[in-house]
Formats: sequence, C-alpha cells, structure tokens
Amino acid sequence: MSTKLFSPWSLKGVTLKNRIVMSPMCMYSSSDRDGTLKPFHFAHYVSRAQGQAGLIMVEASAVSPEGRISDQDLGIWSDEHIEGFASLNEQIKAYGTKTAIQLAHAGRKAELDGDILAPSSIPFDEQSKTPVEMSLGQIKNTIQAFQDAALRAKKAGFDIIEIHGAHGYLINEFLSPLSNHRTDEYGGSPENRYRFLKEVIDAVNEVWDGPLFVRVSASDYTTKGLDITDYIGIATWLKEQGVDLIDVSSGAVVQARIHTFPGYQVSFAEKIKEGAGIQTGAVGLITSGIQAEEILQNHRADLIFIGREFLRDPYFPKTAAKELRTSIEGPRQYDRAW
Ligand SMILES: Cc1cc2nc3c(=O)[nH]c(=O)nc-3n(C[C@H](O)[C@H](O)[C@H](O)COP(=O)(O)O)c2cc1C
Repeated sequence: MSTKLFSPWSLKGVTLKNRIVMSPMCMYSSSDRDGTLKPFHFAHYVSRAQGQAGLIMVEASAVSPEGRISDQDLGIWSDEHIEGFASLNEQIKAYGTKTAIQLAHAGRKAELDGDILAPSSIPFDEQSKTPVEMSLGQIKNTIQAFQDAALRAKKAGFDIIEIHGAHGYLINEFLSPLSNHRTDEYGGSPENRYRFLKEVIDAVNEVWDGPLFVRVSASDYTTKGLDITDYIGIATWLKEQGVDLIDVSSGAVVQARIHTFPGYQVSFAEKIKEGAGIQTGAVGLITSGIQAEEILQNHRADLIFIGREFLRDPYFPKTAAKELRTSIEGPRQYDRAW
C-alpha cells in the first residue's frame, strides 16, 4: 500500500524520508550537570534512527544555564556543547534520519538553585519558587541567548530548529495573560505578549535559514487563558515571520485538568493548519500507524510527532509500516530480519 506516513517531506532543501518525528523528550540525564551529552543520549537517539524515524528532535536544550528545567538538562549555551551535538548528528544521519533540536528556556518552571526568571513575579503553583520579573536587559540577553544557541545548532549540523514556545516555559509565559502581568511593551495586549517570541524569531532568523518550527500550547484550558482561536492568530503572525511549521501541543501554563484521549491535540493542529494556512505537526497519544495515516490523509497535519510510543518501541516506524501493510528498509545489518 502506498502510504502518506512513509512518503517524504521536503522543505528548504531538507528531505525527511517519512513523516515520523521523534517528539522532543527531556531525559534529565546530563549527569555532570553541565549540559553535555552522555553515552545514554547517543544510544537513546541513535537507536531511534536505526528504527527509521524520519526526523529526530533532540529534547529541550537550554539556551542558558538558568533556563534549564533541572540541572541535568541538556544545554546549548556554550560553544563547548557544539562538539557533542556534532558527533550525535553524524551518528544519527548515518541511518538516513534528519535531525532537529528544540531550543528552550524554562522560565518560572526551572527547578534550580538561585534566581529563576519569568515575565512576571508569579510562581507556577504553591510549591514553586517565586521567579524574578525580567528586566529589559534580561529580556535582551535571553533573546541573544536564543540567537547564539541557533548559531551553535547550525555549527553542530542540525537540519531543523524548533523553538519551544509551549508547556508553560518562558516563551509561553510571555504569551499567556495568566503568567504575564507586565505593563511595559512586553505585556498587556496580544501583540505585546507576542513581542518576546517575535524578537526571538527575528534573532534566530538572522543566523538560521533552514526550516524553523515553533512548538505551542494551543490551549491554556482555563477560561481566562488563551485558547485555540488565540493561537490561530499567533500562528498567522508566526507564518508572517517565516516560521515553517507549528508543532501543536497544549496546556501546562497553569495547573488545569486536561481530558486526554487518543489524538487529543490533533484537532488543534487541524484548526491551525486550516485557519493560519501553515504546516503543522500533530502530537499527543498517537500510537499507531493507522492513526497517523488517518491524520495525514485527512489533511489534519503534515508531520506526526511520536513521544512515549518511541520510548516503548524504538522501531515504531517498522511497527507502523507492518500495520499499514507496507515495508520499509532498516539498517543494512538487519536485512535478514526486516
Ligand atoms: C519523558 C518526557 C519528556 C518530555 N520532554 C519534552 C521536551 O523536552 N519538550 C517538549 O516540547 N515536550 C516534551 N515532552 C512532551 C512530548 O514531546 C509529547 O508532546 C507528549 O509526550 C505527548 O505525546 P505522546 O503521547 O506521543 O507521548 C516530554 C514528554 C515525556 C513523556
């Protein structure tokens, strides 16, 4: 059977052999607490490349030390991080898989010693540390940190960059009125709350001309927060800035109940694709080839991000191909089994 899941996807000179993306997943395993890759990371990512993912998105990697969620996050805040990522890229690409990195800043969700930063001095919840409201100088430095990280990602040979604008981390905190109570040009109106992300993208665009993705949380799941309609507007602005694809997740700006079910975020990806006329990635409880194929064939999204299923099955693409009654090539060494 000819499938859409196993058809190539191309943009700006980068071609993925299929539409399966390994979703970014923090492994909290940089055990020297300096942001560097460990043998675990190589085995973890390269095995999914052997498993034939079209694209591997390396987990949220911090653009500055205070932007880590934990002190064992990966980092890309120093030129010393380039070599490790370059080696990882080379090893992944040996299997015909393309690579991306998610550039991140945890904002008020950082669980670290010392000051943590946010648009406003409002803690995430009662157990969380109260963040410092960012000064204009700190905003400028953080935008610069995203640009420096993008340049390092380029030097390390990544094919695609994704900016982490979801899950209640720094960029999402600026976007949402629940976490952004600023009264300067970075708060108040939707345009002002978008300004931080806008400037991050402008800064990244100065040093990066490859495909650019942004992950968003398309709903805050509370009445006073942002919802999918707001995000169709934001996606329109992102498109105007040259962003190529919106990776559509949801939630986690504040504690809120999320009703989950198979494909629970797909309708958000579909609405953004339709409403803003931009490519989207669907993610969230997508666990089978048939489910992924349905999403693509019905034009609900362009790429399928697989998170936890890839942690259960590094050969998910092979499993999905079998389910869709097609076959894919594996590593040459596995020919006798595949
Ligand atoms: C262990 C773990 C770590 C995660 N870390 C990240 C991350 O670094 N960046 C991100 O945007 N999402 C992260 N997520 C969310 C996943 O990328 C994905 O959106 C989510 O798990 C839903 O997809 P799934 O049902 O296929 O797992 C993480 C999820 C898990 C399970």
